Amino acid sequence: MNPLFGKSILIGITGGIAAYKVPLYIRELKKGGAIVKVILTENAKKFVTPLVLSTISDGVFTSLWEDKIPHLSLIQNSPLFVIIPADYNIIGKAASGIADDLLSTVIAAFKGRILFFPSMNYRMFENPIFQKNLDLLKNFGHLIIEPEIGPLALEEEGKGRLPSISRLILETEKALTPDLLKGSYCLITGGGTGEKIDPVRQITNLSSGKMAYSLAKFCYLAGGTPELILGPTAKEPDPNLPYKIKRIESADEMHQEILNRWERVDYLFMSAAVSDFTIPTRRKKIKKKDELVLKLEANIDILEDLKNRKENQFIIGFSIETENLLTSAREKMKEKGCDLMVANEVDAIGSNLTSGIIISPSEEEDFECSKDELAWKIIKKIKSFNS
Ligand SMILES: Cc1cc2nc3c(=O)[nH]c(=O)nc-3n(C[C@H](O)[C@H](O)[C@H](O)COP(=O)(O)O)c2cc1C
Repeated sequence: MNPLFGKSILIGITGGIAAYKVPLYIRELKKGGAIVKVILTENAKKFVTPLVLSTISDGVFTSLWEDKIPHLSLIQNSPLFVIIPADYNIIGKAASGIADDLLSTVIAAFKGRILFFPSMNYRMFENPIFQKNLDLLKNFGHLIIEPEIGPLALEEEGKGRLPSISRLILETEKALTPDLLKGSYCLITGGGTGEKIDPVRQITNLSSGKMAYSLAKFCYLAGGTPELILGPTAKEPDPNLPYKIKRIESADEMHQEILNRWERVDYLFMSAAVSDFTIPTRRKKIKKKDELVLKLEANIDILEDLKNRKENQFIIGFSIETENLLTSAREKMKEKGCDLMVANEVDAIGSNLTSGIIISPSEEEDFECSKDELAWKIIKKIKSFNS
């Protein structure tokens, strides 16, 4: 699922210094398959030229007095209007209903939500009149993404910097994604767990954590608040995503961290590969020898403690099998008391792609797709049961 694909996005650029970064943002939107039309204020033209923008977008507009009443024709079929950078002036005009050029007149005529990326010197940002205007726009349902703290023009530092291009894209994707998990706390486990044999060795598995990261991204895009409990993972988390991460090693630690948060959980996604076996840890390193026999024991069953749950708490289990995928996953779903089970073929481990079956009490759906796409399918599925 790519929230940008095929969407008509209208972009408004104002006379802020960060306007020079907007072509890079537009290029990423285009890479994602969006159709992008751009409106520039007269002052924005001093920072970025209509010529540059016309080579990378699907149209550039600068005047109210162009053909076909542009302030009315431009808003047709655009689900999203993004103002970037949103300078002090345009926030003031939008909040007080001034329409004295093309951009402010399109804002007046646009009926949907507008996504504002404010950027300016920190003194202007902190100005109470500006803050009041931002609150007013928020109260009207518009989306405001706060600028970041960092270096500003004239070698100053403070809050006012436009976020990175990848964060801008993430927030744009979020604005285009249905709010299926709005207000929900989503706890996601991922990666493998490690069971210590002795102080320097452990039993672990090949889980990469990729499914957990995909779930966290799509929970965020869908308006949820994701938190991750991660064992060792091959992949690093996306620094743009504002989720908390708790790192653990063993199944015992994961169990404890889930219990600590369980009261608040709306959706628990158990995508971690929790080791089925454990072993009493030797205090001293086992000496090298010709042969070593280890006796493994069944590990703790994390979901056992969560069986008596509130009606609105939803558990999504994950399994990976080399044979009898459907039967084994159905058994596991019943035994563990999951509301939904995602059964993956073994090739999914470590890969960006996966295939298998999503199993609910009443139906089954085959999938063969990326882990991002699977994350979105799961969210849509749980929402369809739970609404
Ligand atoms: C070099 C320079 C950089 C500026 N950078 C910003 C900025 O980053 N943010 C901002 O709010 N205003 C900035 N301004 C002020 C705006 O350009 C000014 O308020 C202008 O009236 C905005 O017009 P517009 O909203 O129609 O584009 C800057 C001005 C200059 C001369």
